Amino acid sequence: MVHLTSRLTKQLADQEIMMQTQSDIKHNNAISLLEADHQAVSVLFKKYEKTTDSADKKELVSKICSELSIHAQVEEEIFYPQFKIALGDTELIAEAIVEHSTLKDLIAQVEGKEPDGEMFDAKIKVMSEYVQHHVKEEEGEMFPKAKKSKMDLEKIGTEISARKTELKKTKK
Ligand SMILES: [Fe+2]
Ligand SMILES: [Fe+2]
Repeated sequence: MVHLTSRLTKQLADQEIMMQTQSDIKHNNAISLLEADHQAVSVLFKKYEKTTDSADKKELVSKICSELSIHAQVEEEIFYPQFKIALGDTELIAEAIVEHSTLKDLIAQVEGKEPDGEMFDAKIKVMSEYVQHHVKEEEGEMFPKAKKSKMDLEKIGTEISARKTELKKTKK
């Protein structure tokens, strides 16, 4: 299924360019960048649900895992600490870090593995639902608070962008 895989690779590359263009338009605002990542991963999970070819599934899972890992890392290194300080938060960030940790366990169970049947699909399904839950809390609770705070979201956005570019280079 070389042909299908290369078509998928092309689609994924196009999506990457589109997301990058969108984030440029929004001037690197931290919230826009993080929400664009959430959207991109949600599209990848939807693609997985419609995919039956095992090589395509493997490629999608590899992309999902790398996107999620990089996203979680920039949140933990840059966004979360600054949110915690600006808001004096003692609850949301701790909870989000625990959720990231569960997510990393799920990633470790599927990353680089062969998509070999219903248990594998079930793991991706659970991961997708878990990400949805986590994103709902960030977009519904954390981000609105950040927008109302004194956080410099443009500056943080620029830091996030730079770190993501760096991580993408090393994790490829
Ligand atoms: Fe997160
Ligand atoms: Fe997030």
